[in-house]
Formats: sequence, C-alpha cells, structure tokens
Amino acid sequence: MSHTIETQVCIIGAGPSGLLLSQLLANAGIDTVVIDRKDRAYIEGRIRAGVLEQGTVTALEEAGVADRLHREGLPHSGFELAFDGDRHRIDIEALTGKTVTVYGQTEVTKDLFDKRHAEGQVFYFNADSVRPQDLTADRPSVSFTHDGAEITVSCDYIAGCDGYHGVSRQSIPADVLKTFERVYPFGWLGVMVERPPVSHELIYANHARGFALASMRSERRSRYYVQCDLDDSIDNWSDDRFWEELALRLGPDAAAHLQTGPSFEKSIAPLRSFVAEPMRHGNLFLAGDAAHIVPPTGAKGLNLAAADVRILSRALIEHYTKGNDHHIDTYSETVLKRVWKVERFSWQLSTLMHQFPENSPFEKRMQRAEFDYLTTSEAAARSLAENYVGLPLE
Ligand code: APR
Ligand code: PHB
Repeated sequence: MSHTIETQVCIIGAGPSGLLLSQLLANAGIDTVVIDRKDRAYIEGRIRAGVLEQGTVTALEEAGVADRLHREGLPHSGFELAFDGDRHRIDIEALTGKTVTVYGQTEVTKDLFDKRHAEGQVFYFNADSVRPQDLTADRPSVSFTHDGAEITVSCDYIAGCDGYHGVSRQSIPADVLKTFERVYPFGWLGVMVERPPVSHELIYANHARGFALASMRSERRSRYYVQCDLDDSIDNWSDDRFWEELALRLGPDAAAHLQTGPSFEKSIAPLRSFVAEPMRHGNLFLAGDAAHIVPPTGAKGLNLAAADVRILSRALIEHYTKGNDHHIDTYSETVLKRVWKVERFSWQLSTLMHQFPENSPFEKRMQRAEFDYLTTSEAAARSLAENYVGLPLE
C-alpha cells in the first residue's frame, strides 16, 4: 500500500533541531510533517549536554516550551577553569551581562515533544529507507516506509534535521558538498550520579593526567567527565577508578567536596569538529548536527542547532507570510558564518583544556600561558565569556 501526503515543510529528524523547527513554524501557521527513524522514547533517552545559551532559552520561550525550564533550570553566572589544581572563575555575567542555564537536553526534547503532541503534530516514527527526492524541483518530496506502507511526503521545502548520521547531508551531490573535519585523539568518559555537584558552577580542568569536567543536571544530580583514550572501554573504569581519577584531575580543593556514589549512564564519546557546506541545496536546508559537529568542551552542540533553527525558521516564515525570499536565499551564507565562529571557539577551548598525546613540552607551556593570560587579562576573559554565553545571531 502506498500513499502521498502534502505539506509545506517536511522535517527529517525529531531531535532538538527538528522539534524546535516544527514548533516555531507551527506558531506561524506553517504546516509540517516530521519523520524520524526512531521513536520518541529512544530520542528522549539519548544523554546529551545541558548548558543553554540565553539565545536558546529565548528560542524555547518563543516556542512556548520554557515554563519547566524556568522552574527547574539552574541559572549560572560563571564557570571555573582549573590548571593542575589552580582554579580561576570566569564571571560571565560581569563580563558580558549574560548568564547561561543548566538544563538537560533530554528535558528540552521532552518539553518540545509534549508541546508538539499537544498541538497535534503529524509524526512518522520508526520510518525506514527515508529518501529526500527532487531537491531542486518546485515540489521536492521525501519517501519512506512506515508500518509496511510506502509513503511520500510532497512539500515545498525539506529541513534536514537528521543529525550527523542522517540521510539529508548525503543527499547533496558529491560535487556540491564540501566537508571539513578534525577528529580529536581522545574521548570523554561521562557518568551521572545522584549526588549534589562538587561545586555550584561548572569546573573545566586541564591536568597532566588529562581533562576533567564537573557539571550537573540539578542540585541533586551531577554529571562528570574525564578525558580517556579513544580506544578505551567503560569496562576499564570501575566507579572507584573513575572517582579517584576525577578527584586527582579536579585538584585537592574540589576533591575535598566531591560526593561520590554509584554511577549510571556511564559512556564514552569521541570528539570531533565537523562542518558541511553548503547548508542549502535546492529546496533542502540542513540544520543542527546534520550540518556540523562540535567537541562538547564548549557546550555548543544544542545551542548551535537552536541558532540554525532560529535562522531557518525566520527564513521560512518570511517566505510564507511576506513572500520575501531574502533570508531563504542567504540562509547558507548567514548560518555558516556563525557556525564557523562557534566551531573555532569549541576547537580553541578543546585545544586549551586537553592533554594531546602529540603535544611537545612547548605546546604544554603554551596551554599554561593561555590559562595565565585568561586569568590576568579582562580582555582575554571577556573574549572567552562572550563565546561561552553565545554569539549574537546575524
Ligand atoms: N531518517 C529519519 N530520521 C533520522 C535519520 C534518517 N535517515 N537519521 C537520523 N535520524 C534522526 C535521529 O533518529 C535523531 O532523532 O534524526 C534525529 C537527529 O537528532 P540529533 O542527532 O539529536 O541532532 P539535532 O536535532 O540536530 O540536535 C543536535 O543533539 O546530538 C546532539 O550534540 C548534539 O546537542 C546536539 C543536538
Ligand atoms: C554537561 O553537563 O553534560 C556538559 C556541560 C558543559 C559542557 C559539556 C557537557 O561543556
């Protein structure tokens, strides 16, 4: 059995990018269909970072899904950098006038799903063989199989919000697509623990033994990471080993306040910087991880996706409500300018805060000199802070 559905925008991917886009477009009366190869439970179950820029909070407010965020999110006015135990606070609010909000991406996804379902969004979960087609035609389409049926969504535009492993980016002709990549020679081993965080703010630590990060999800649930080898395994990391290593890398002051306990959601993730250009081909637009990946050091993955979606939704809303195609025609150029700036910041902070196997004693001294510069120069600290709180949209 096969049938065709008509819509204005077909969104591939029901992660944060696809969900936020469908909500912002729905608020402007624009009809969408959202397709995902997984189901809601799987998508909500993915553990991701949890620091929201003010711009992302604004986007969620515009989407009408920020009530729980404002009730449960933790506003942060600063974070700490630590180098071999020496700690220094970056006062982002004093330096930029802005704060960030600690609120898990899982919660953002749940809030968006609740709102989309409440408004009757058409979802196709567990979709197989998803194929964007006729990208340069006036009415492109997306075909897929669902519950044994062959379905085709005929639309004006396709939004490729299907992440790094999605099909949308791969639908851009090889002679059009350019990709840029840096794979880091280490991974992050992350754990969750039902204990109060070691500090009320985040601590990013560079120690001779490797990077560590102390974060949180709430005042009772903490999230910690240590740098590990790319080929490492969680089987090599008992809780005792993890807590001992984390305490060493955070330094004695933090270690004295570290509340350990049985960890959960222990996992290892690789780090990469990746950008695909262009972010538009014909009537296909890429947004979020479908077009770019940042190392998690700068907590930019979700925030960069949200910024793409704000720029893309503005372009589509201008088209449908005013017949103005300026932002559609300039989408890729506009969004990539900001993507590259955020890639730069995430790469720079990752380079500063990690132990690189290939680093000579000179490079290690450069890392320490950068830290000392950041702790003594307001201009240097402000540059770091303005990237951390989020660059303005173009
Ligand atoms: N067909 C349909 N859906 C697909 C396909 C496909 N071929 N491939 C992937 N998907 C779906 C995935 O199941 C996932 O739900 O697309 C969605 C992509 O979601 P994300 O990977 O979360 O990407 P995005 O929505 O851009 O959010 C970026 O999520 O991964 C984190 O660190 C990242 O914080 C960042 C944020
Ligand atoms: C997290 O809480 O998971 C987190 C916070 C900040 C980062 C990365 C991850 O830079």
